[in-house]
Amino acid sequence: MDRRIKEILQTPAKEQELTVNGWVRSKRDSKAVCFIALNDGSCMSNIQIIIDKENSNENLLNAINQLNTGASCSVNGILVESLGKGQTVEIQAKNITVLGEAPDDYPLQKKRHSFEFLRDIAHLRPRSNTFAAVARVRNAMSFAVHKYFQENGFLYVNTPIITESDAEGAGEMFQVTTIPMEKLSGGVDYTRDFFGKKASLTVSGQLMGETYATALGNIYTFGPTFRAENSNTTKHLSEFWMIEPEMAFCDINMNIDIAEEFLKYILQYVLDNCQEDMAFFNQHIEKGVIEKLENVIKSEFKRVTYTEAIDILEKSNEKFQYPVSWGIDLHTEHEKYLTKHFNGAVAVVDYPKDIKAFYMKLNEDGKTVRGVDILVPRLGEIIGGSERENDYETLLGKIKEVGLDPEEYSWYLDTRKYGSVPHSGFGLGFARLIMYVTGMENIRDVIPFPRSSKNLKF
Ligand code: 4AD
Ligand code: MG
Repeated sequence: MDRRIKEILQTPAKEQELTVNGWVRSKRDSKAVCFIALNDGSCMSNIQIIIDKENSNENLLNAINQLNTGASCSVNGILVESLGKGQTVEIQAKNITVLGEAPDDYPLQKKRHSFEFLRDIAHLRPRSNTFAAVARVRNAMSFAVHKYFQENGFLYVNTPIITESDAEGAGEMFQVTTIPMEKLSGGVDYTRDFFGKKASLTVSGQLMGETYATALGNIYTFGPTFRAENSNTTKHLSEFWMIEPEMAFCDINMNIDIAEEFLKYILQYVLDNCQEDMAFFNQHIEKGVIEKLENVIKSEFKRVTYTEAIDILEKSNEKFQYPVSWGIDLHTEHEKYLTKHFNGAVAVVDYPKDIKAFYMKLNEDGKTVRGVDILVPRLGEIIGGSERENDYETLLGKIKEVGLDPEEYSWYLDTRKYGSVPHSGFGLGFARLIMYVTGMENIRDVIPFPRSSKNLKF
């Protein structure tokens, strides 16, 4: 078996012969010797390939000429201790097979490129240090999500992407149509043409998740969700992955406890398992990000009510772009202020009912609902959740009040009609969590191929 660089770099050099495959990151060629830095994506580090030109065969000398930055090759050689700085082992090449050359116009030359530029070549950016590191951290975090839930007895449920109902009731859905493009101009109601019915891309798996939680106990979904809001910001995408646990026999406080424990678990997992990549982010992307995450893990999330949060904002001397008063939806600037005020993550609960989704449980005051947003420094909202309204009549009334069709939600109402139980859940935007962990500033740079009002290339 050919070896991967991550594993080779961890083995002591014992003059062993091996084969490694990868892409050339750089080449330094002098009269007597040529050094090639080879990367295979298994880790951030390259392995150094040495070609002793004076004792080389034709094959090696030809390979040197062909192997520019970006070219791919398979190297056979001897793993030896390295005397050079920066690496403990290197490979003395015996044979190199050039697999694919890279002409001089290869866009990822050694200099630093802007993230805007790299976004435009999203098909090549995983070959850069930053995007390879993001991909590895994203992978580790996906795994940690499943690991946490599986270790804690949650069942993984796959909810559909094509759906009839608006899970958030916010009217921000992309329509699905089977009508050929040329017919669309002919006055056809394409909003009702999923084989004659209305269909959209899901904004959240929550409502269907609830039907499984109210049968099986604790469940979670983890899949793509879609929002047709035209928010051209650094933290909104049209397509993003969401993690949505739903817990039966669980109130809002238990819900927040689980959210906090879950977030800390993921952060710890990344710190333990992605040390090289996190060291890179710590040095090049957000100075001190590792310490920040360690502090979050050690700290207790602050918990305040929306009413208390508004009070804090009103009493602050900050000049907000959006004026603050009881009843407003919190904007990112307000959320950031609150995380600064409390110097860490904050869970805000009991929002006014009119600014939150129809399914949230109404409090005894008749004015607020048991919704929670968890806010983190730099980003603001990272999690949105709630205890769910479990009273049939109240929920039905709310569905009518916000102008949704009770007929369309009859299946959802059934979970309250038959054996209703207190239950709660939350949604974590996966891309926002990756931004938080890596320090990356634009959400378009933590997902392989971003989709937003301005991004559809690829
Ligand atoms: O607050 P949201 O809209 O809540 C829900 O969808 C609920 N159904 C969740 C639940 O209770 N099961 O979205 C949840 C999270 C947000 O806190 C945010 O992290 C992320 O999803 N999110 C987005 N991420 C990227 N781009 C967007 N346009 C996002 N909209 C929400
Ligand atoms: Mg929200």
